[in-house]
Amino acid sequence: MSRLEDIAPSLSDIPESFAPALRYLGTAIALWTAWYFYTFHLPQIRHSDEPPILPYRIPVVGHAFQMFSSASKLFARGKKQFKGRMFTIVTMGTPMYIVTSAPDVLSAFKMPKDLDFDPVIAQIMGCYGMSREGVEAQSKVGEGGKTFVDRSVEMFKVQLHPGEKLDVLQDVLLKRIDEQLTYEKIEGGMVREDRGEGKVVDMYEWAGTVIIEAQTRAFFDEVIFELCPEIVGQEMIFEEEAWKLSMELPRWAAGKFHSSMDYVRDGLLRYLQLPKEKRKGESWVVTSMLESMEKEGYDANTRAISLFAFYRVVNGNAYKLVFWLITYILFDTSSLLKDLQSEISPAFEPDGSINLDTLFNSCPLLASTCEEALRLTDWSVGMRKVTKDTVLAGKRLRAGRNLFMAYRTMHFDQQAFGTDADSFKPRRFMDNPSLIKSSWYKPFGGATHYCPGRFIARKEIVMFVAILLKRFDLGLPEGSKFPKVDDTLPSGGVQSPLPGQSLHVRVKKA
Ligand code: HEM
Repeated sequence: MSRLEDIAPSLSDIPESFAPALRYLGTAIALWTAWYFYTFHLPQIRHSDEPPILPYRIPVVGHAFQMFSSASKLFARGKKQFKGRMFTIVTMGTPMYIVTSAPDVLSAFKMPKDLDFDPVIAQIMGCYGMSREGVEAQSKVGEGGKTFVDRSVEMFKVQLHPGEKLDVLQDVLLKRIDEQLTYEKIEGGMVREDRGEGKVVDMYEWAGTVIIEAQTRAFFDEVIFELCPEIVGQEMIFEEEAWKLSMELPRWAAGKFHSSMDYVRDGLLRYLQLPKEKRKGESWVVTSMLESMEKEGYDANTRAISLFAFYRVVNGNAYKLVFWLITYILFDTSSLLKDLQSEISPAFEPDGSINLDTLFNSCPLLASTCEEALRLTDWSVGMRKVTKDTVLAGKRLRAGRNLFMAYRTMHFDQQAFGTDADSFKPRRFMDNPSLIKSSWYKPFGGATHYCPGRFIARKEIVMFVAILLKRFDLGLPEGSKFPKVDDTLPSGGVQSPLPGQSLHVRVKKA
Protein backbone atom coordinates (compact mmCIF):
# COMPACT_ATOMS: atom_id res chain seq x y z
CA MET A 1 0.00 0.00 0.00
CA SER A 2 1.38 3.44 -0.91
CA ARG A 3 2.03 5.92 1.85
CA LEU A 4 0.50 9.41 1.67
CA GLU A 5 3.85 11.08 0.98
CA ASP A 6 4.26 8.85 -2.05
CA ILE A 7 1.15 10.15 -3.74
CA ALA A 8 0.66 13.69 -2.36
CA PRO A 9 3.12 16.37 -3.55
CA SER A 10 5.32 17.72 -0.76
CA LEU A 11 5.16 21.47 -0.02
CA SER A 12 8.46 21.98 -1.80
CA ASP A 13 6.88 20.63 -5.03
CA ILE A 14 4.17 23.35 -5.05
CA PRO A 15 5.02 26.24 -7.41
CA GLU A 16 6.32 29.25 -5.49
CA SER A 17 3.64 31.56 -6.90
CA PHE A 18 0.99 29.53 -4.96
CA ALA A 19 2.71 30.01 -1.64
CA PRO A 20 1.15 33.39 -0.64
CA ALA A 21 -2.34 32.14 -1.55
CA LEU A 22 -1.79 29.04 0.55
CA ARG A 23 -0.57 31.12 3.47
CA TYR A 24 -3.74 33.28 3.26
CA LEU A 25 -5.88 30.17 3.05
CA GLY A 26 -4.11 28.63 6.04
CA THR A 27 -4.52 31.84 8.04
CA ALA A 28 -8.20 32.07 7.07
CA ILE A 29 -8.83 28.47 8.15
CA ALA A 30 -7.00 29.02 11.43
CA LEU A 31 -8.96 32.25 12.10
CA TRP A 32 -12.29 30.64 11.18
CA THR A 33 -11.55 27.65 13.46
CA ALA A 34 -10.60 29.99 16.31
CA TRP A 35 -13.81 32.03 15.70
CA TYR A 36 -15.91 28.83 15.60
CA PHE A 37 -14.41 27.59 18.87
CA TYR A 38 -14.74 31.03 20.49
CA THR A 39 -18.37 31.43 19.34
CA PHE A 40 -19.84 27.97 19.80
CA HIS A 41 -17.69 26.00 22.23
CA LEU A 42 -16.27 28.59 24.61
CA PRO A 43 -19.71 30.02 25.49
CA GLN A 44 -20.95 26.51 26.32
CA ILE A 45 -18.10 26.34 28.86
CA ARG A 46 -18.08 29.97 30.11
CA HIS A 47 -21.83 30.65 29.88
CA SER A 48 -23.28 27.17 30.19
CA ASP A 49 -26.26 28.71 32.01
CA GLU A 50 -27.38 30.48 28.78
CA PRO A 51 -29.30 28.92 25.85
CA PRO A 52 -26.65 27.42 23.51
CA ILE A 53 -26.02 29.00 20.12
CA LEU A 54 -27.06 27.00 17.07
CA PRO A 55 -23.83 26.81 15.02
CA TYR A 56 -23.58 28.81 11.79
CA ARG A 57 -20.82 29.21 9.23
CA ILE A 58 -20.57 32.90 8.32
CA PRO A 59 -19.59 35.28 11.14
CA VAL A 60 -22.01 38.17 11.82
CA VAL A 61 -24.45 37.11 9.06
CA GLY A 62 -25.19 34.04 11.18
CA HIS A 63 -28.53 32.41 10.41
CA ALA A 64 -29.83 35.40 8.39
CA PHE A 65 -30.04 33.57 5.04
CA GLN A 66 -31.79 30.55 6.51
CA MET A 67 -34.06 32.72 8.62
CA PHE A 68 -35.34 34.45 5.46
CA SER A 69 -35.41 31.42 3.19
CA SER A 70 -36.56 28.54 5.41
CA ALA A 71 -37.03 29.61 9.01
CA SER A 72 -39.19 26.56 9.66
CA LYS A 73 -36.32 24.20 8.80
CA LEU A 74 -33.90 26.29 10.84
CA PHE A 75 -36.02 25.96 13.99
CA ALA A 76 -36.62 22.25 13.38
CA ARG A 77 -32.83 21.77 13.13
CA GLY A 78 -32.33 23.62 16.41
CA LYS A 79 -35.07 21.64 18.12
CA LYS A 80 -33.47 18.38 16.99
CA GLN A 81 -29.92 19.41 17.85
CA PHE A 82 -30.79 20.63 21.35
CA LYS A 83 -33.47 17.98 21.98
CA GLY A 84 -36.28 20.49 22.41
CA ARG A 85 -34.39 22.77 24.82
CA MET A 86 -34.26 26.50 24.22
CA PHE A 87 -31.43 27.70 21.94
CA THR A 88 -30.09 30.92 20.41
CA ILE A 89 -29.92 31.92 16.77
CA VAL A 90 -28.02 34.92 15.44
CA THR A 91 -29.08 37.10 12.51
CA MET A 92 -26.77 39.90 11.41
CA GLY A 93 -25.04 39.83 14.77
CA THR A 94 -28.28 39.96 16.79
CA PRO A 95 -28.99 36.95 19.02
CA MET A 96 -32.55 35.74 19.59
CA TYR A 97 -33.79 32.95 21.86
CA ILE A 98 -35.92 30.23 20.25
CA VAL A 99 -38.41 28.21 22.28
CA THR A 100 -39.74 25.02 20.69
CA SER A 101 -41.34 23.05 23.53
CA ALA A 102 -44.72 23.35 25.24
CA PRO A 103 -43.43 23.36 28.86
CA ASP A 104 -41.04 26.25 28.05
CA VAL A 105 -43.84 28.17 26.27
CA LEU A 106 -46.11 27.76 29.29
CA SER A 107 -43.34 29.02 31.60
CA ALA A 108 -42.81 32.03 29.29
CA PHE A 109 -46.55 32.82 29.42
CA LYS A 110 -46.27 33.09 33.22
CA MET A 111 -43.68 35.89 32.97
CA PRO A 112 -45.54 38.67 31.10
CA LYS A 113 -43.48 41.46 32.69
CA ASP A 114 -39.98 40.02 32.15
CA LEU A 115 -40.94 38.65 28.73
CA ASP A 116 -43.00 41.55 27.49
CA PHE A 117 -45.20 41.71 24.38
CA ASP A 118 -45.80 45.47 24.45
CA PRO A 119 -42.40 46.45 22.96
CA VAL A 120 -43.14 44.06 20.08
CA ILE A 121 -46.49 45.79 19.47
CA ALA A 122 -44.72 49.16 19.61
CA GLN A 123 -42.23 47.99 16.99
CA ILE A 124 -45.01 46.75 14.68
CA MET A 125 -46.87 50.05 15.02
CA GLY A 126 -43.66 51.87 14.09
CA CYS A 127 -43.41 49.69 10.95
CA TYR A 128 -47.00 50.68 10.08
CA GLY A 129 -45.87 54.30 10.18
CA MET A 130 -46.99 55.39 13.67
CA SER A 131 -45.02 58.32 15.08
CA ARG A 132 -42.90 57.87 18.19
CA GLU A 133 -45.35 60.10 20.12
CA GLY A 134 -48.23 57.88 19.01
CA VAL A 135 -46.44 54.73 20.11
CA GLU A 136 -45.60 56.29 23.46
CA ALA A 137 -49.18 57.49 23.94
CA GLN A 138 -50.49 53.96 23.39
CA SER A 139 -48.35 52.50 26.13
CA LYS A 140 -49.01 55.31 28.65
CA VAL A 141 -51.40 54.57 31.49
CA GLY A 142 -54.65 56.45 30.83
CA GLU A 143 -58.39 55.84 31.18
CA GLY A 144 -59.24 53.28 33.90
CA GLY A 145 -55.60 53.11 35.00
CA LYS A 146 -54.72 51.07 31.90
CA THR A 147 -52.75 51.56 28.71
CA PHE A 148 -54.62 51.70 25.39
CA VAL A 149 -53.10 48.33 24.46
CA ASP A 150 -54.54 46.75 27.62
CA ARG A 151 -57.92 48.43 27.11
CA SER A 152 -58.06 47.18 23.51
CA VAL A 153 -57.38 43.60 24.61
CA GLU A 154 -60.37 43.89 26.95
CA MET A 155 -62.56 45.35 24.19
CA PHE A 156 -61.59 42.54 21.79
CA LYS A 157 -62.70 40.00 24.37
CA VAL A 158 -66.02 41.73 25.05
CA GLN A 159 -66.77 41.78 21.31
CA LEU A 160 -65.38 38.41 20.28
CA HIS A 161 -65.77 36.04 23.23
CA PRO A 162 -69.11 34.17 23.33
CA GLY A 163 -71.88 36.52 24.40
CA GLU A 164 -74.45 39.00 23.15
CA LYS A 165 -72.02 41.21 21.25
CA LEU A 166 -70.51 38.28 19.41
CA ASP A 167 -74.02 37.05 18.48
CA VAL A 168 -74.77 40.38 16.79
CA LEU A 169 -71.50 40.35 14.84
CA GLN A 170 -71.80 36.68 13.97
CA ASP A 171 -75.29 37.14 12.52
CA VAL A 172 -74.08 39.77 10.06
CA LEU A 173 -70.91 37.88 9.17
CA LEU A 174 -72.36 34.42 8.60
CA LYS A 175 -75.40 35.76 6.78
CA ARG A 176 -73.18 37.66 4.37
CA ILE A 177 -70.98 34.61 3.68
CA ASP A 178 -74.12 32.55 3.04
CA GLU A 179 -75.45 35.19 0.60
CA GLN A 180 -72.21 35.55 -1.31
CA LEU A 181 -71.60 31.85 -1.89
CA THR A 182 -73.89 31.33 -4.86
CA TYR A 183 -72.90 30.33 -8.38
CA GLU A 184 -74.05 33.67 -9.81
CA LYS A 185 -71.85 35.64 -7.40
CA ILE A 186 -68.68 33.91 -8.56
CA GLU A 187 -67.56 36.74 -10.80
CA GLY A 188 -64.80 39.21 -11.59
CA GLY A 189 -61.07 38.57 -11.40
CA MET A 190 -61.39 35.31 -9.46
CA VAL A 191 -62.99 33.59 -12.50
CA ARG A 192 -60.25 32.21 -14.73
CA GLU A 193 -62.50 30.44 -17.21
CA ASP A 194 -66.26 30.48 -17.84
CA ARG A 195 -67.48 28.05 -20.44
CA GLY A 196 -71.17 28.10 -19.54
CA GLU A 197 -71.29 24.59 -18.07
CA GLY A 198 -68.91 25.53 -15.26
CA LYS A 199 -66.32 28.04 -14.08
CA VAL A 200 -62.67 27.69 -13.20
CA VAL A 201 -62.06 29.78 -10.11
CA ASP A 202 -58.94 30.93 -8.27
CA MET A 203 -59.66 29.45 -4.84
CA TYR A 204 -57.41 31.85 -2.95
CA GLU A 205 -59.12 34.89 -4.43
CA TRP A 206 -62.58 33.42 -3.94
CA ALA A 207 -61.98 32.72 -0.25
CA GLY A 208 -60.31 36.10 0.34
CA THR A 209 -62.88 38.16 -1.50
CA VAL A 210 -65.85 36.63 0.33
CA ILE A 211 -64.38 36.40 3.83
CA ILE A 212 -62.69 39.79 3.98
CA GLU A 213 -65.70 41.54 2.48
CA ALA A 214 -68.04 39.87 4.98
CA GLN A 215 -65.77 40.70 7.93
CA THR A 216 -65.35 44.31 6.81
CA ARG A 217 -69.13 44.57 6.63
CA ALA A 218 -69.52 42.99 10.09
CA PHE A 219 -67.07 45.32 11.82
CA PHE A 220 -67.60 48.60 9.91
CA ASP A 221 -70.49 50.58 8.55
CA GLU A 222 -70.98 49.85 4.86
CA VAL A 223 -70.05 53.44 4.05
CA ILE A 224 -66.49 52.09 4.15
CA PHE A 225 -67.02 50.54 0.71
CA GLU A 226 -67.88 53.97 -0.68
CA LEU A 227 -64.81 55.56 0.87
CA CYS A 228 -62.43 52.82 -0.28
CA PRO A 229 -64.06 50.51 -2.80
CA GLU A 230 -60.91 48.44 -3.24
CA ILE A 231 -60.27 47.81 0.44
CA VAL A 232 -60.77 44.02 0.19
CA GLY A 233 -58.44 43.51 -2.76
CA GLN A 234 -55.80 45.87 -1.34
CA GLU A 235 -55.88 44.11 2.03
CA MET A 236 -55.26 40.80 0.23
CA ILE A 237 -52.32 42.33 -1.63
CA PHE A 238 -50.93 43.68 1.61
CA GLU A 239 -51.14 40.25 3.27
CA GLU A 240 -48.89 38.88 0.52
CA GLU A 241 -46.47 41.78 0.90
CA ALA A 242 -46.44 41.98 4.69
CA TRP A 243 -43.29 39.86 5.09
CA LYS A 244 -41.37 42.99 4.03
CA LEU A 245 -42.67 44.87 7.06
CA SER A 246 -39.61 44.73 9.29
CA MET A 247 -37.21 45.45 6.39
CA GLU A 248 -38.21 49.10 6.14
CA LEU A 249 -37.73 49.06 2.35
CA PRO A 250 -38.10 52.37 0.47
CA ARG A 251 -41.01 52.89 -1.92
CA TRP A 252 -38.95 52.28 -5.06
CA ALA A 253 -37.97 48.82 -3.73
CA ALA A 254 -41.36 47.75 -2.39
CA GLY A 255 -44.03 49.55 -4.42
CA LYS A 256 -46.92 47.14 -3.87
CA PHE A 257 -46.17 46.85 -0.18
CA HIS A 258 -46.41 50.61 0.30
CA SER A 259 -49.30 51.27 -2.06
CA SER A 260 -51.53 48.54 -0.54
CA MET A 261 -50.73 49.62 3.01
CA ASP A 262 -51.35 53.29 2.13
CA TYR A 263 -54.67 52.44 0.48
CA VAL A 264 -56.10 50.54 3.45
CA ARG A 265 -54.63 52.85 6.11
CA ASP A 266 -55.74 56.04 4.35
CA GLY A 267 -59.18 54.57 3.74
CA LEU A 268 -59.52 53.84 7.46
CA LEU A 269 -58.34 57.37 8.21
CA ARG A 270 -61.12 58.82 6.03
CA TYR A 271 -63.57 56.43 7.69
CA LEU A 272 -62.80 57.46 11.28
CA GLN A 273 -63.00 61.14 10.34
CA LEU A 274 -66.65 60.72 9.36
CA PRO A 275 -69.18 61.99 11.90
CA LYS A 276 -70.56 59.24 14.13
CA GLU A 277 -74.03 59.39 12.57
CA LYS A 278 -72.51 58.24 9.28
CA ARG A 279 -70.97 55.18 10.96
CA LYS A 280 -74.06 53.95 12.74
CA GLY A 281 -73.75 50.39 11.39
CA GLU A 282 -70.31 49.71 12.85
CA SER A 283 -69.52 47.12 15.52
CA TRP A 284 -69.25 47.84 19.21
CA VAL A 285 -65.51 47.21 19.28
CA VAL A 286 -64.69 49.71 16.51
CA THR A 287 -66.81 52.44 18.15
CA SER A 288 -65.22 51.72 21.53
CA MET A 289 -61.67 51.79 20.21
CA LEU A 290 -62.26 55.06 18.35
CA GLU A 291 -63.96 56.71 21.33
CA SER A 292 -61.21 55.63 23.68
CA MET A 293 -58.49 57.04 21.39
CA GLU A 294 -60.43 60.26 20.92
CA LYS A 295 -60.75 60.72 24.69
CA GLU A 296 -57.00 60.28 25.08
CA GLY A 297 -56.46 62.92 22.39
CA TYR A 298 -54.55 60.71 19.93
CA ASP A 299 -53.84 62.35 16.57
CA ALA A 300 -55.69 61.08 13.48
CA ASN A 301 -52.64 59.21 12.18
CA THR A 302 -52.25 57.23 15.41
CA ARG A 303 -55.96 56.38 15.40
CA ALA A 304 -55.88 55.25 11.76
CA ILE A 305 -52.85 53.05 12.30
CA SER A 306 -54.39 51.41 15.38
CA LEU A 307 -57.47 50.66 13.30
CA PHE A 308 -55.28 49.35 10.48
CA ALA A 309 -53.53 46.96 12.92
CA PHE A 310 -56.95 45.74 14.03
CA TYR A 311 -58.16 45.35 10.43
CA ARG A 312 -55.14 43.20 9.60
CA VAL A 313 -55.32 40.97 12.63
CA VAL A 314 -59.02 40.36 12.04
CA ASN A 315 -58.71 39.64 8.31
CA GLY A 316 -55.34 38.07 7.76
CA ASN A 317 -55.98 34.41 8.48
CA ALA A 318 -59.44 32.91 8.02
CA TYR A 319 -59.52 33.04 4.21
CA LYS A 320 -56.12 31.38 3.97
CA LEU A 321 -57.36 28.47 6.04
CA VAL A 322 -60.46 28.10 3.85
CA PHE A 323 -58.10 27.89 0.87
CA TRP A 324 -55.96 25.16 2.49
CA LEU A 325 -58.98 23.19 3.65
CA ILE A 326 -60.47 23.03 0.16
CA THR A 327 -57.04 22.17 -1.23
CA TYR A 328 -56.52 19.30 1.22
CA ILE A 329 -60.05 18.00 0.68
CA LEU A 330 -59.84 18.05 -3.13
CA PHE A 331 -56.42 16.41 -3.23
CA ASP A 332 -57.33 13.73 -0.69
CA THR A 333 -57.50 10.33 -2.32
CA SER A 334 -59.59 8.64 0.38
CA SER A 335 -63.35 9.00 0.79
CA LEU A 336 -62.96 12.29 2.71
CA LEU A 337 -65.00 14.46 0.31
CA LYS A 338 -67.91 12.03 0.27
CA ASP A 339 -67.76 11.47 4.05
CA LEU A 340 -67.84 15.21 4.64
CA GLN A 341 -70.73 15.70 2.24
CA SER A 342 -72.82 13.09 4.01
CA GLU A 343 -71.85 14.45 7.45
CA ILE A 344 -72.94 18.02 6.66
CA SER A 345 -76.08 17.07 4.77
CA PRO A 346 -78.42 17.13 7.84
CA ALA A 347 -77.28 20.71 8.54
CA PHE A 348 -78.97 21.92 5.35
CA GLU A 349 -82.74 22.30 5.39
CA PRO A 350 -84.78 21.46 2.27
CA ASP A 351 -85.15 25.21 1.53
CA GLY A 352 -81.34 25.58 1.51
CA SER A 353 -81.10 27.37 4.86
CA ILE A 354 -78.46 26.20 7.31
CA ASN A 355 -79.03 24.74 10.75
CA LEU A 356 -76.03 26.29 12.48
CA ASP A 357 -76.42 24.22 15.63
CA THR A 358 -76.12 20.98 13.65
CA LEU A 359 -73.28 22.34 11.55
CA PHE A 360 -71.20 23.55 14.48
CA ASN A 361 -71.98 20.81 16.99
CA SER A 362 -72.67 17.63 15.02
CA CYS A 363 -70.05 17.60 12.28
CA PRO A 364 -66.94 16.23 14.01
CA LEU A 365 -65.16 15.18 10.81
CA LEU A 366 -65.39 18.67 9.33
CA ALA A 367 -64.21 20.23 12.60
CA SER A 368 -61.31 17.78 12.79
CA THR A 369 -60.31 18.35 9.15
CA CYS A 370 -60.31 22.08 9.86
CA GLU A 371 -57.95 21.70 12.86
CA GLU A 372 -55.65 19.39 10.91
CA ALA A 373 -55.32 21.84 8.02
CA LEU A 374 -54.73 24.61 10.57
CA ARG A 375 -52.02 22.57 12.34
CA LEU A 376 -50.17 22.03 9.07
CA THR A 377 -50.40 25.51 7.60
CA ASP A 378 -50.35 27.83 10.61
CA TRP A 379 -47.28 29.72 11.63
CA SER A 380 -48.36 31.78 14.57
CA VAL A 381 -45.51 32.98 16.70
CA GLY A 382 -45.11 34.39 20.16
CA MET A 383 -42.57 37.22 20.15
CA ARG A 384 -41.44 38.71 23.44
CA LYS A 385 -38.79 41.21 24.55
CA VAL A 386 -36.64 40.25 27.54
CA THR A 387 -37.01 43.35 29.71
CA LYS A 388 -34.58 42.34 32.46
CA ASP A 389 -32.06 39.55 33.01
CA THR A 390 -34.19 36.59 33.92
CA VAL A 391 -34.28 32.79 34.03
CA LEU A 392 -36.51 30.63 31.83
CA ALA A 393 -36.42 26.84 31.82
CA GLY A 394 -33.23 26.93 33.88
CA LYS A 395 -31.39 29.20 31.40
CA ARG A 396 -30.34 32.80 31.91
CA LEU A 397 -31.79 35.26 29.39
CA ARG A 398 -30.18 38.63 28.83
CA ALA A 399 -32.20 41.84 28.93
CA GLY A 400 -32.79 43.52 25.56
CA ARG A 401 -32.87 40.34 23.50
CA ASN A 402 -35.92 38.93 21.72
CA LEU A 403 -37.51 35.60 22.52
CA PHE A 404 -39.42 33.74 19.83
CA MET A 405 -41.89 30.95 20.56
CA ALA A 406 -41.94 28.80 17.41
CA TYR A 407 -45.42 27.28 17.57
CA ARG A 408 -45.15 25.81 14.07
CA THR A 409 -42.19 23.68 15.14
CA MET A 410 -44.31 22.41 18.06
CA HIS A 411 -47.16 21.47 15.70
CA PHE A 412 -44.90 18.84 14.11
CA ASP A 413 -43.75 17.32 17.40
CA GLN A 414 -43.98 13.55 17.08
CA GLN A 415 -44.52 12.90 20.77
CA ALA A 416 -47.51 15.21 20.83
CA PHE A 417 -49.03 14.40 17.41
CA GLY A 418 -47.65 10.95 16.59
CA THR A 419 -45.01 9.63 14.22
CA ASP A 420 -47.19 10.70 11.27
CA ALA A 421 -47.14 14.35 12.45
CA ASP A 422 -45.86 15.47 9.03
CA SER A 423 -48.89 14.06 7.19
CA PHE A 424 -52.45 15.29 6.70
CA LYS A 425 -54.75 13.00 8.74
CA PRO A 426 -58.23 14.58 8.66
CA ARG A 427 -59.48 12.37 11.50
CA ARG A 428 -56.56 13.10 13.82
CA PHE A 429 -58.42 15.56 16.08
CA MET A 430 -61.62 13.49 15.95
CA ASP A 431 -59.85 10.30 17.01
CA ASN A 432 -58.06 12.14 19.81
CA PRO A 433 -60.31 15.02 20.95
CA SER A 434 -57.89 16.00 23.73
CA LEU A 435 -55.39 17.18 21.07
CA ILE A 436 -57.24 20.44 20.58
CA LYS A 437 -56.37 21.40 24.16
CA SER A 438 -52.80 20.09 23.93
CA SER A 439 -50.24 22.61 25.11
CA TRP A 440 -48.26 21.72 21.96
CA TYR A 441 -51.09 23.05 19.76
CA LYS A 442 -51.02 26.85 19.64
CA PRO A 443 -52.45 28.06 16.29
CA PHE A 444 -54.13 30.99 18.05
CA GLY A 445 -51.17 31.92 20.25
CA GLY A 446 -51.76 32.16 23.97
CA ALA A 447 -51.62 34.13 27.21
CA THR A 448 -52.68 37.80 27.26
CA HIS A 449 -52.98 38.17 23.49
CA TYR A 450 -54.55 34.74 22.86
CA CYS A 451 -56.59 35.25 19.68
CA PRO A 452 -60.06 36.39 20.81
CA GLY A 453 -61.35 35.72 17.28
CA ARG A 454 -60.88 31.94 17.54
CA PHE A 455 -64.59 31.31 18.26
CA ILE A 456 -65.94 33.17 15.24
CA ALA A 457 -62.99 32.12 13.04
CA ARG A 458 -63.71 28.42 13.46
CA LYS A 459 -67.41 29.00 12.70
CA GLU A 460 -67.00 31.10 9.58
CA ILE A 461 -64.40 28.70 8.17
CA VAL A 462 -66.53 25.61 8.83
CA MET A 463 -69.58 27.33 7.36
CA PHE A 464 -67.77 28.50 4.24
CA VAL A 465 -66.40 25.03 3.51
CA ALA A 466 -69.72 23.29 4.25
CA ILE A 467 -71.57 25.60 1.84
CA LEU A 468 -69.01 24.94 -0.88
CA LEU A 469 -69.30 21.18 -0.45
CA LYS A 470 -73.10 21.33 -0.43
CA ARG A 471 -73.91 23.86 -3.15
CA PHE A 472 -71.21 23.14 -5.69
CA ASP A 473 -69.69 20.31 -7.55
CA LEU A 474 -65.98 20.99 -7.08
CA GLY A 475 -63.15 19.42 -9.02
CA LEU A 476 -59.54 19.91 -10.01
CA PRO A 477 -58.57 20.81 -13.57
CA GLU A 478 -56.27 18.24 -15.15
CA GLY A 479 -52.62 18.54 -14.13
CA SER A 480 -53.35 20.47 -10.91
CA LYS A 481 -50.52 20.38 -8.41
CA PHE A 482 -50.80 20.70 -4.63
CA PRO A 483 -49.68 24.27 -3.84
CA LYS A 484 -46.73 24.54 -1.46
CA VAL A 485 -47.05 26.31 1.88
CA ASP A 486 -44.79 29.34 1.95
CA ASP A 487 -42.44 28.08 4.63
CA THR A 488 -39.91 30.86 4.29
CA LEU A 489 -40.91 33.33 7.00
CA PRO A 490 -43.54 33.17 9.74
CA SER A 491 -46.60 35.27 8.89
CA GLY A 492 -47.86 35.18 12.48
CA GLY A 493 -50.88 33.10 11.43
CA VAL A 494 -51.97 30.89 8.55
CA GLN A 495 -49.33 30.83 5.80
CA SER A 496 -50.04 31.74 2.17
CA PRO A 497 -49.17 29.39 -0.67
CA LEU A 498 -45.85 30.17 -2.36
CA PRO A 499 -46.25 33.05 -4.86
CA GLY A 500 -47.93 31.90 -8.06
CA GLN A 501 -49.12 28.64 -6.49
CA SER A 502 -52.81 29.28 -5.93
CA LEU A 503 -55.28 26.54 -6.75
CA HIS A 504 -57.72 26.68 -9.63
CA VAL A 505 -60.95 24.82 -8.92
CA ARG A 506 -63.58 23.66 -11.40
CA VAL A 507 -66.96 24.78 -10.04
CA LYS A 508 -70.43 23.69 -11.17
CA LYS A 509 -73.79 23.97 -9.46
CA ALA A 510 -74.41 20.77 -7.45
C1 HEM B 1 -57.62 30.79 11.40
C2 HEM B 1 -57.85 32.02 11.78
C3 HEM B 1 -57.04 32.79 12.79
C4 HEM B 1 -55.82 32.52 13.34
C5 HEM B 1 -54.89 31.34 13.05
C6 HEM B 1 -55.52 33.60 14.27
C7 HEM B 1 -54.36 33.69 15.03
C8 HEM B 1 -54.07 34.74 15.86
C9 HEM B 1 -52.85 34.88 16.59
C10 HEM B 1 -51.71 33.88 16.56
C11 HEM B 1 -52.91 36.03 17.29
C12 HEM B 1 -51.84 36.63 18.19
C13 HEM B 1 -51.76 35.91 19.49
C14 HEM B 1 -50.49 36.16 20.25
O1 HEM B 1 -49.74 37.06 19.91
O2 HEM B 1 -50.22 35.41 21.19
C15 HEM B 1 -54.18 36.63 17.02
C16 HEM B 1 -54.61 37.82 17.56
C17 HEM B 1 -55.83 38.36 17.30
N1 HEM B 1 -56.82 37.85 16.52
FE1 HEM B 1 -56.75 36.10 15.49
N2 HEM B 1 -56.57 34.48 14.28
C18 HEM B 1 -57.51 34.03 13.40
C19 HEM B 1 -58.72 34.63 13.09
C20 HEM B 1 -59.20 35.75 13.70
C21 HEM B 1 -60.49 36.35 13.43
C22 HEM B 1 -61.50 35.79 12.41
C23 HEM B 1 -60.61 37.44 14.22
C24 HEM B 1 -61.74 38.39 14.36
C25 HEM B 1 -62.88 38.28 13.77
C26 HEM B 1 -59.37 37.54 14.99
C27 HEM B 1 -59.10 38.53 15.90
C28 HEM B 1 -57.90 38.70 16.55
C29 HEM B 1 -57.58 39.84 17.38
C30 HEM B 1 -58.48 41.04 17.66
C31 HEM B 1 -56.28 39.64 17.85
C32 HEM B 1 -55.46 40.57 18.75
C33 HEM B 1 -55.51 40.06 20.15
C34 HEM B 1 -54.66 40.87 21.11
O3 HEM B 1 -53.74 41.56 20.70
O4 HEM B 1 -54.95 40.78 22.30
N3 HEM B 1 -58.56 36.50 14.66
N4 HEM B 1 -54.88 35.83 16.14
